Amino acid sequence: MAAAAYQFFDLKPPPADMLREVLHGLTSEPKTIAPKYFYDERGSALFEAITRLPEYYLTRTELRLFDRCLGEVRDAIGAGGCVVEYGAGSSLKIRRLLEAVRPEAYLPVDISQRHLERTAAALHADFPWLKVYPTCADLTEPLELPDVVAGFHKIGFYPGSSIGNFEPHEARCFLGNVAVSLGAGAHLLIGVDRKKERAVLEAAYNDAAGVTSEFNLNVLNHLNDELNADFNPGAFRHKAYYNERHGCIQMFLESVEDQTVRLNGAAIELARGETIHTENSYKYDLEEFKALAAAGGFTCTAAWTDPDEYFALFLLQVE
Ligand code: AVI
Repeated sequence: MAAAAYQFFDLKPPPADMLREVLHGLTSEPKTIAPKYFYDERGSALFEAITRLPEYYLTRTELRLFDRCLGEVRDAIGAGGCVVEYGAGSSLKIRRLLEAVRPEAYLPVDISQRHLERTAAALHADFPWLKVYPTCADLTEPLELPDVVAGFHKIGFYPGSSIGNFEPHEARCFLGNVAVSLGAGAHLLIGVDRKKERAVLEAAYNDAAGVTSEFNLNVLNHLNDELNADFNPGAFRHKAYYNERHGCIQMFLESVEDQTVRLNGAAIELARGETIHTENSYKYDLEEFKALAAAGGFTCTAAWTDPDEYFALFLLQVE
C-alpha cells in the first residue's frame, strides 16, 4: 500500500514538570529560567519580530546564504530524499529549501503539537507533491524516525543558529543524536552564528525598538499564566552582553528593586540588582564548529559564509 501523503506521529514524552523545573531554577544560585519558556504564543510572535529587526542580522544573512547554497545542497541530496527539520519552521527558509531540493518527504520534529500541526498543514496545502510527516517529539532526546521514511536518503535541517542556545556539551550530544537518527551517509544543513565584534553582537540583542527586551520580559508573563505566579515585569530590566570568555551572548532579567515574588505559594526573594539568567547564545568560529560537528559524528562537506563573516551555513555528512 502506498504511504499516506500526510501522517502525524506522536512521540511526545510525558509532560515535563514545569513547576518543579522553574522552582528549581529560581531557588538556585545564580537564579535561572530555561530559554524554552520564552516560546508561548506571544513569545513566538516576538521572536518572529526579532528576526525582522535591523540589528538582528542573523536571519537575513542566513537567507542570503541560502540563495548561494541550495543548488549544491540539491546535488548532494539527489532525488527522492526526505528533509527532517528540527523545530517546525513556518518561515521562508523551509519553503525555499523544499522548492529548491524538491524532496519526496518532509518530516518536521517539534515539541509543540499545535505549532507543529499548524505549520505542517500549511506546507501540505502549499506543496501538494510532498509527503508530510509531522512528528511531535522532544528534539533534545534521541529520536527513532518513523518507519514511513526508512527508505529515504535523509537531510536534516537546523537553521537559525538554534544550535547556539545549547551549551557546547549539549550541542555535541544533540548532533550525536541527530547523526544516529538520520543514519550513515545522511546530510545535515545547519546555520551557525559566528564570533565577531562585540558591538555587532550586543546590538543584535539590545535592539533600539526594545523588542528583545519585551521578548525577555515576556517569559515572566508566561510563568504568571502557567504557574500561578505574580511576577511584575515592570520590576525587571532586560540585560544582554557578550561574554567573551565563554563565547556567548548572555541574557538576564535584573530586578530593579528588592522584591518577593510568589510562585504557586513559594516565596522567591530578589534583591535590587540581582539577576535571573534566561539565555546563552553561543557563537562559533568556523574551525571550532567543524570540530564540534566532528565530535558529534559529522564531516563537513561544504560551508558558506557572507562577506562580513557574520554567519555560516554548513553542509555536514554523517560518517
Ligand atoms: C532562537 N535563537 C537562535 C535566538 C538567538 O539568537 O539565540 C533567540 C534569541 N534570543 C534573543 N534574541 C533572539
